[in-house]
Amino acid sequence: MCTIQILLSLLAVIAVSEAIYKRWIPNTNFENASNWNERRVPCSQDTAMFPRDKKVSVFVQSPHSLTNLYMPLDGEFILADGAGFMAASNDDPACTPGTHINFHDAEGHEWFDPTLWSSAQSTDDLEMGRFLFSVDAEHVPCLYDDLIFSPETSFRVHLKETGSEVQLRSISVLGKKFTNNEDFSQYLKSPTGKLQFPGPVQPQIMNLRCQDDTGCLCGNDEMLQEICSARLQYSGNKCPEVTCASPLQPIGHCCGICGVIISLEYISTFNLETYRNRLIHTFLSLNKYSSIKLAISKVQSSLPILSSMRFGKNLKIQIVLIDGKEGSLAGSDALQLGYDIMADIETQGESFGITKAEMEFATGSITSPQTAPMSAGAISGIVIGTFLGLSLLAASYFLYKLDACRLQYFRFFHFWNNGSRMEDDEPVGHGGFDNVIYEPAAENKQAVTGGEEDLKAGTGFQFDNPVFDSNFDA
Ligand SMILES: *[C@@H]1O[C@H](CO)[C@@H](O)[C@H](O)[C@H]1NC(C)=O
Repeated sequence: MCTIQILLSLLAVIAVSEAIYKRWIPNTNFENASNWNERRVPCSQDTAMFPRDKKVSVFVQSPHSLTNLYMPLDGEFILADGAGFMAASNDDPACTPGTHINFHDAEGHEWFDPTLWSSAQSTDDLEMGRFLFSVDAEHVPCLYDDLIFSPETSFRVHLKETGSEVQLRSISVLGKKFTNNEDFSQYLKSPTGKLQFPGPVQPQIMNLRCQDDTGCLCGNDEMLQEICSARLQYSGNKCPEVTCASPLQPIGHCCGICGVIISLEYISTFNLETYRNRLIHTFLSLNKYSSIKLAISKVQSSLPILSSMRFGKNLKIQIVLIDGKEGSLAGSDALQLGYDIMADIETQGESFGITKAEMEFATGSITSPQTAPMSAGAISGIVIGTFLGLSLLAASYFLYKLDACRLQYFRFFHFWNNGSRMEDDEPVGHGGFDNVIYEPAAENKQAVTGGEEDLKAGTGFQFDNPVFDSNFDA
C-alpha cells in the first residue's frame, strides 16, 4: 500500500504540467479544537455533545475518555486504528470541573466559498503550505483540477444548484482517489458519502487534462455569482474597503483591488506554465517582491476585443498583482513589479510568444514631489506595450505604433519608477524551480458558531455503532 502511494506521489511530481491541486480546508475531526465551542477537545470529565438533528461524519484519531457523549440522530464516527471512546474514571485533576462541550454545526461550509480551498502546483506544495494565489473564480475547483479531501479527515461540504455542472478531473476522499465518475457516484450513495456530500448537486468527475500549452479556461465563469455570494457571506455581501480611489476589477474576482492587472495577448508558442515559472524565478524570488501575490491564468474577457485578429476569440492571459501594503502605500510594490514585468516583456516577450501587453494599475495616494498636495489622491492608469513580429504587410504601421507605445511606456516608467533596476536577460531555467507563488495560509475562516439551544433537548439519542468503512482504509 505504502509503496504504491509513494510511487503515485512521485509520478504526480514528475508529471508536473498543468494540473492544479485543490484541497478542502475545513474538517469535522473530533480532535480539531476549533470544532468545539470551548475551542478545546473534550477531556475525561466533560460531556461531549453533538447537535441532535445535524448530520455529520466525524473522524476520530485517538482514544478518548468522556463522562458523557451525546450523538446526533444521523451521523457516524470514523475510528482510526486504536481510536475509540470510554467511560471516564471518577476523578481526573487535569480535567476539572467538567463541562458540556458542543460540537459546532458543520452545515455552513459551501463548496463555492473560495476561502475554504487551498491550491498548489503539486501535492508536495500542498503539504508544505506553498499555496497558489488566484482570482476567486479559480480558487474553487476548476475543470482540470485534482481535488483532495485530506486522508484521515471527515468533512461536510454543501454544493448548491447553479444551473451549470460542477466538473473536475479527480477527487480524493479518505485516501482513495476517484478518477471515474461512476465509481464516485457509487461512493456518494454510501452512508459516508451522503454525510460528506449532502448535495443537492453532485460534482462530476471528468478525468480531463488541459491539452493546450497556452493554458485552459478554469470554466467557473457561470458560477461567479454563487462564488462571490459564498465568498462574502460573512461580510454582509460587502467587499472589504480598499484605499485606492478607483480599484481594478480583475476578471473572475469578486472585489476590486489595489494593485496591477497585466493583460497579455499571445500566439501559439506561448506556454503558460513556462511563463508562470519565469515570473516566479525572475521576480517573485527577489526579496523586495516576497510579499506580493501573483495570479496568472487564461481568462475570457466579457467585452469583445476590438481587433479580433486572433481567431475572433477574446481570450487573454491575465496577471494580477497584489501586495500587502496598506493606506497610501497600497499597491506600490505591485506597481513596481508591474513595471519590471512590462520591461521584461519589452525585451523578452516575443520569445515567450507574447504579442501585446497592457498594464492597468491602482494604488493608494503617492505623496510625490511632482504632484500638488491637493491632487495627492489615489492614482490609477494604463500602460500599453505592443510587441509584434506578426505580419510583413503591416510592418510599417506597427513600427510606428511600437514607437508610439514605447514612448508612452517609458515616460510612465521614469516617472514612477525612479532608481529601480531592471532584471532582464536572465536565462529561463527549465524544470529547476523551487519557488511557488505564495499565499499566506492564514486565511482560514472560522465556522460560525451554531446555536447552543440545539442541544438543550439532548436525551435518549439513538445511534448506530460507529462505522468504519474498510474500503477507505488505504
Ligand atoms: C480545524 O478545523 C478548522 C475549521 O474546520 C480548519 O480551518 C482547520 O484547518 C482545522 N485544523 C486542523 C489542525 O485540522
